Amino acid sequence: MGEKLLEVKNLSTYFYTDEGVVYALDDVSFDLDRGEALGIVGESGSGKSVTALSIIRLVQSPPGKIVAGEVLLDGDNLLTKSKAEMRHIRGEKISMIFQEPMTALNPVFTVGHQIMESILIHQHKTKKEAREQAIEMLRLVGIPAPEKRVDDYPHQMSGGMRQRVMIAIALCCNPQLLICDEPTTALDVTIQAQILELIRDIRERLGTSVILITHDLGVVAQVTDKVIIMYAGKVMEYGTVRQIFTDPLHPYTAALMRSIPVIGKQTERLNVIRGMVPSLSKRPDGCLFHPRCDEACELCRTVRPDLINLPDGRQVRCHKYTDKWEEKSHD
Ligand SMILES: Nc1ncnc2c1ncn2[C@@H]1O[C@H](COP(=O)(O)OP(=O)(O)OP(=O)(O)O)[C@@H](O)[C@H]1O
Ligand SMILES: [Mg+2]
Repeated sequence: MGEKLLEVKNLSTYFYTDEGVVYALDDVSFDLDRGEALGIVGESGSGKSVTALSIIRLVQSPPGKIVAGEVLLDGDNLLTKSKAEMRHIRGEKISMIFQEPMTALNPVFTVGHQIMESILIHQHKTKKEAREQAIEMLRLVGIPAPEKRVDDYPHQMSGGMRQRVMIAIALCCNPQLLICDEPTTALDVTIQAQILELIRDIRERLGTSVILITHDLGVVAQVTDKVIIMYAGKVMEYGTVRQIFTDPLHPYTAALMRSIPVIGKQTERLNVIRGMVPSLSKRPDGCLFHPRCDEACELCRTVRPDLINLPDGRQVRCHKYTDKWEEKSHD
């Protein structure tokens, strides 16, 4: 641990649409150590999927374009790679589980065939070896009787099993980084817990670094060490899961925390953050969250806050902390 695998620096991705420029990702920076798990949390439209797609260079273009920044994997900038080089990197070094897993498997081929296909593209193996590895991968992701299930078609499996197959495909080339975009949203609660357990287990057993994207803070708490809170294409807060849960700094993070349902507290109404995520092509002045923030003052309405580095390693983008930080830095 401690050795950097991924460094995202000042990444900006815009979409040039008929309605104007959509600032989907605006100056986003973060990094990830080997074997570390990072959660990216935010409401719908905050730029989570675009972050992942920018890292693996699968942003739809046009209308999308990565306009600035660097994505360093082991110090190597992925944004300068050719398409062919990126095809190798995807699958061999970075794998991604996409947001709509149920549509990602081809209904006309067996799951074994689809895992083998991925193995044969990236590794020099015979079909027999690939089939054996496919069975091993199914075993690794906890599918019972993998020797039999390898010949199943996707429709013969439950949603949870199909998600396990997707994870098997993502892992078959032993990637250094696994990006999971809302891996459990389409699953029911019990199966969700099992898939999160599987991701946690894989990270421990294989040492794979994980980026877990979700709109649910409860999900990251189960899997990741650190969390980025995104809002309207910007990082609003960054910290360890513990820091974020025990002492959320940004009013947006605090509001997200209040919207997590607590078991046994049914009497309290689930808190939903008032207002809507702003249109990313017509962003408000000042802090992007100010129209929904109960604590907003004049400064928040007019001046965009910078991301402030706090002495304990946390980061927050809120005017409330500017003075606090300046006081500390003058001590
Ligand atoms: N192909 C595209 N064309 C135009 N705008 C796009 C495109 N893809 C994404 N966007 C815009 O980029 C912004 C961020 O989208 P993104 O998909 O990253 O959100 P998200 O945080 O993943 O949301 P969700 O939780 O709904 O998956 C949104 O405003 C979205 O409308
Ligand atoms: Mg998304």
